[in-house]
Amino acid sequence: MNYIEPVFRPPSEAKSLILQVTNGCSWNRCSFCEMYTAPQKKFQAKPEKQLREELQFLQQSGYRFPRIFLADGDAMTLSFRRLKTILEAIQNYLPGTRRVSSYCLPRNLKNKSVEELKELQQLGLSILYVGCETGDEELLHTIGKGESYRSSLDALQKIKQAHLKSSVMIVNGLGGRKFSQQHAIHSAKLMTETQPDYLSTLVLSFPEGPKRHQDHFNGQFEQLTQLELFEELALFISHLELSHTVFRSDHASNYLILKGTLNADKEKLLDQLHTAIHTPTAIHLRKEWQRGL
Ligand SMILES: C[S@@+](CC[C@H](N)C(=O)[O-])C[C@H]1O[C@@H](n2cnc3c(N)ncnc32)[C@H](O)[C@@H]1O
Ligand code: SF4
Repeated sequence: MNYIEPVFRPPSEAKSLILQVTNGCSWNRCSFCEMYTAPQKKFQAKPEKQLREELQFLQQSGYRFPRIFLADGDAMTLSFRRLKTILEAIQNYLPGTRRVSSYCLPRNLKNKSVEELKELQQLGLSILYVGCETGDEELLHTIGKGESYRSSLDALQKIKQAHLKSSVMIVNGLGGRKFSQQHAIHSAKLMTETQPDYLSTLVLSFPEGPKRHQDHFNGQFEQLTQLELFEELALFISHLELSHTVFRSDHASNYLILKGTLNADKEKLLDQLHTAIHTPTAIHLRKEWQRGL
């Protein structure tokens, strides 16, 4: 496969074939995100002919690909028609594929009806990873996400109505000290209102330095300490009212690995955070060098 590197995928797609149907991110303006900023990652949809050739090559390899992840940053930005063609081609060339997934920005679904999404679901689309990042309106505006509480809510509800699964990402520490409490509380409110199937938290990290993010905060961004990150996460979890959401903080950026189903495991997760806050030597925490993005 000829990938335009770097290529990213959610941790849970480790066993999936990555099919790069687009290059880069159609938005690419979030203050904290450097994933698709390299010059070769300028947003572009892969030409249909090239994609068919790749699928043909995969078919001839004789391997089965039960799971496929559509890269890059928001393949769901493609039109309904184009996505339908891609999913039909996957069914045609790789009939053993059972589950197709993609990153998805709320705005990617704005011009797609529930009926259209249901059709994509029938063609194998199964799970959408939505980087909500926060439910706090002021913070969404500050980081330049180009989304609002309402647009995130609408997209997550549409996903549910189309019988697709949603996996939401929230970024721990995203707003620094100033926004910490409102970020935790409003993100929990968004999750409670939308009841995603999966929820994960990542820790804000800056492999290339905080300058871009800092500029959006007029130089006033104060990064949370490890202790403050745990406190923010505990406040977030304590405000969640979920009936059955699989929660994970096992992304490489996290210091503390948490896993559970919410709300069933809420007290257990809060206990673990309590230990991390008050007796950090009694719990396993990743060292700085063990973390990544
Ligand atoms: C490829 S991006 C998300 C896909 C899609 N473009 C979206 O925004 O929904 C994957 C996720 O990584 C996380 N991420 C990106 N940059 C990060 C950073 N500097 N620190 C921590 N998490 C980050 C965000 O949660 C982001 O949604
Ligand atoms: S977080 Fe998502 S939308 Fe924002 S720049 Fe990164 S990939 Fe694009």
